[in-house]
Amino acid sequence: MHHFSYKNGSLHAEDVSLTSIVDEVGTPFYCYSAATLRRHYRVFADAFASQDALVAFSVKSLSNLAVLRLLAKEGAGADVVSGGELMRAQKAGIPGPRIVFSGVGKTREEMASALDADIYQVNVESVPELRALNDVALACGKQAPIALRVNPDVSAGAHNKISTGRAEDKFGIAWSQAHEVFTLAASLDGINVAGIDVHIGSQITDLAPFERAFGKVTNLVRELRNAGHKITRLDLGGGLGIPYQHSSDASVPPHPSVYADMIKKIAGSLDLQLIFEPGRMIAGNAGILVARVIYVKQGAARKFLILDAAMNDLIRPALYDAWHDIVPIDEPEVGAGKVLYDLVGPVCESGDTFARDRPLSPTAEDALIAFLTAGAYGAVQSSEYNSRPLIPEVLVEGDKFSVIRKRPSIEEMLAKEEIPDWL
Ligand code: LLP
Repeated sequence: MHHFSYKNGSLHAEDVSLTSIVDEVGTPFYCYSAATLRRHYRVFADAFASQDALVAFSVKSLSNLAVLRLLAKEGAGADVVSGGELMRAQKAGIPGPRIVFSGVGKTREEMASALDADIYQVNVESVPELRALNDVALACGKQAPIALRVNPDVSAGAHNKISTGRAEDKFGIAWSQAHEVFTLAASLDGINVAGIDVHIGSQITDLAPFERAFGKVTNLVRELRNAGHKITRLDLGGGLGIPYQHSSDASVPPHPSVYADMIKKIAGSLDLQLIFEPGRMIAGNAGILVARVIYVKQGAARKFLILDAAMNDLIRPALYDAWHDIVPIDEPEVGAGKVLYDLVGPVCESGDTFARDRPLSPTAEDALIAFLTAGAYGAVQSSEYNSRPLIPEVLVEGDKFSVIRKRPSIEEMLAKEEIPDWL
């Protein structure tokens, strides 16, 4: 469910026509719907309303300050993975006690700022990290509240590059070492072990791997409690997938309420506070990428739509072979027919291909198109490759819109670099 639809023959974000945004900001740009962001957050949070749960939005999925402020106002916490994301969350008004800090490689500086912000929990992924955090906490005269992230050795069937819960992945404490690491953590004066954390991957559309991982982890909670550990929190990570391809019956993810029921069944009797780190599920459908066709090129064997957006703006198709539905901004006439196009960007790599043989209504030079479901892992993964400035982000609410990250000029992009005076 999202708020991008045709009105009077033209694609709108809520009540704003995308062509009116194009007139003001040019192309390409990302556009987010406030109503969709709120709705997805609410659907997820409401699914856990009867359980003691903290919903910490995964900032890495869409980290614009305005989006974080909007979610903060809904009551969301934040899952951060760097000092930069921590600062974003704080700037957006998310209080420390609603922030969890994940990631395999936190530096001592990041740990110190997390403790300084009195965050709710640091998710610790290794013994060296545990010892470093203990040192940092003692030096600050604090105790660090932590969960230990365990690796349940469960394959989630998501894309290889975004699976995180298998024994060979870099994430979490090896299952066989979990008991001894909890014992070590309990012996450190700068550490307060509050819980267990698990995250098995992203874009998972099947409940079964979650059930397997959560079943293993709740058994571990029982074992640890029997061994005298006080486990009060269970962080179940993010990972619930979303539909990307509406024209096919590609796997439809479970509704958050079904996910919540499954978790209640597995963990309901354990009197644990639950923590969730959803990203894609909240941000994915809430954003689109709008681009213009620069040229229509007939190749030897294929017809190309060459766009002004490229892999540096939306890297998901190049990196994960990801599918995004693509629609024209001007609604096609009924019975317009379809042509097969390859949609590509101007970057000098064949990998700069968004889609191959995509059936679209006949499309001419200068036409505007939109990539749907581009809110999560879209803008945040963009780069200036080929010296293309980062593209703007726009937030729509009802009939108004604001540019929430402006397009830098080429001069501004280059201003970050310096030529030494010895050259
Ligand atoms: N928690 C942890 C510890 C994570 O590593 C992630 C995602 C999340 C939560 C949020 O997961 P979500 O609810 O969004 O599935 N760039 C890739 C996705 C990378 C996901 C990384 N970790 C993509 O474009 O598909």
